Amino acid sequence: MEEDEIEHTEEENVNEETTEEMNSDFEYKDIKDLPGVGSTIASKIRNAGYQDIIALATANPLVLVEACGIGEPTARKIVAEAREASKMNFMSGLEFEDKRKSVQRISTGSEALNILLGGGVETQSITECYGEYGSGKSQIAFQLSVDVQLPLDKGGLEGHAIWIDTEGTFRPSRIEQLAAVKGLDPKQALQNIKIGRAYSSDHQVLLVDKIPELINADPKIRLIVVDSMMALFRAEYVGRGTLADRQQKVNVVLHNLQRLADRFNVAVYITNQVMARPDVMFGDPTAAVGGHIIGHVATYRIYLRKGKKGSRVGKLVDSPSLPEGEASFEITSNGIMDIDEEKKK
Ligand SMILES: Nc1ncnc2c1ncn2[C@@H]1O[C@H](COP(=O)(O)OP(=O)(O)O)[C@@H](O)[C@H]1O
Ligand SMILES: [Mg+2]
Repeated sequence: MEEDEIEHTEEENVNEETTEEMNSDFEYKDIKDLPGVGSTIASKIRNAGYQDIIALATANPLVLVEACGIGEPTARKIVAEAREASKMNFMSGLEFEDKRKSVQRISTGSEALNILLGGGVETQSITECYGEYGSGKSQIAFQLSVDVQLPLDKGGLEGHAIWIDTEGTFRPSRIEQLAAVKGLDPKQALQNIKIGRAYSSDHQVLLVDKIPELINADPKIRLIVVDSMMALFRAEYVGRGTLADRQQKVNVVLHNLQRLADRFNVAVYITNQVMARPDVMFGDPTAAVGGHIIGHVATYRIYLRKGKKGSRVGKLVDSPSLPEGEASFEITSNGIMDIDEEKKK
């Protein structure tokens, strides 16, 4: 289609003040505010799955050509503008180090598992836990949602949590039980968790888009749980034909989550199922659902499996700075904890 369909907008700076207030670490504008994009093209871009400028900055221009009916040079220009607007450029090693200094960690309940993760589940990162049904992925999420509320010296961040539940397995009673064990007021602990039940993958996308609003309303939010990341996508996108669409959408959600982690210094914990891999003859014949995309975005990946005597074993896979290793722990009525020394003998 012709390039002269591009809308030109004069209102680039209208929202500058309010958006800058809300986003201290980068200048943030709406997609429609980008030069060469008006509301019509902006809505086409959103329909193509790019909800904001950061997502757009990572887009392949050729995908925009198709989805928005614009010429390739224009698409390239829009993506370049998005990159500029989102300041996807370099910072010095020192600036980077400074940012890393604000990283904090939430205890999983098990010291062994914390050590495996370099001290606990980290803010500014996505931690993915994958494993079979019943391996303990949700239990870790329950524990983190309680432990995040503890004081710093107890492994918490005195924070609150958001929980996106795609499988209908969130249990208030479990939160209350774990909170009581940690000496928290059970009802208050529950009050400090915002639960969004997602009924479709589109709904899940919308709930993730709502998170900045929730955090602006409650800056104590320090943990985002998505349990599980792929269940709805997997159920809805059946067959190879739509796999690329699915992956693209999942990719957008993951990048939005990573952006939230960076922007608000929160920890993101996502769970994932495994599927059988008939092609693997040796070793573990399972793989996380969602293929390579999650692996490329998640900073920490833990493969969970059942161990001896009802224990659980977490294996750290693909960490940027930590050695691969394993940690054993238990799931008890009191929550996630180390295997006590007695039982090890
Ligand atoms: N109150 C409890 N007391 C002891 N163990 C529990 C309790 N609740 C759950 N579990 C253990 O956790 C397992 C379920 O783990 P879950 O995190 O739901 O698995 P998934 O990986 O499918 O999310 C159960 O099979 C049980 O072994
Ligand atoms: Mg579960």
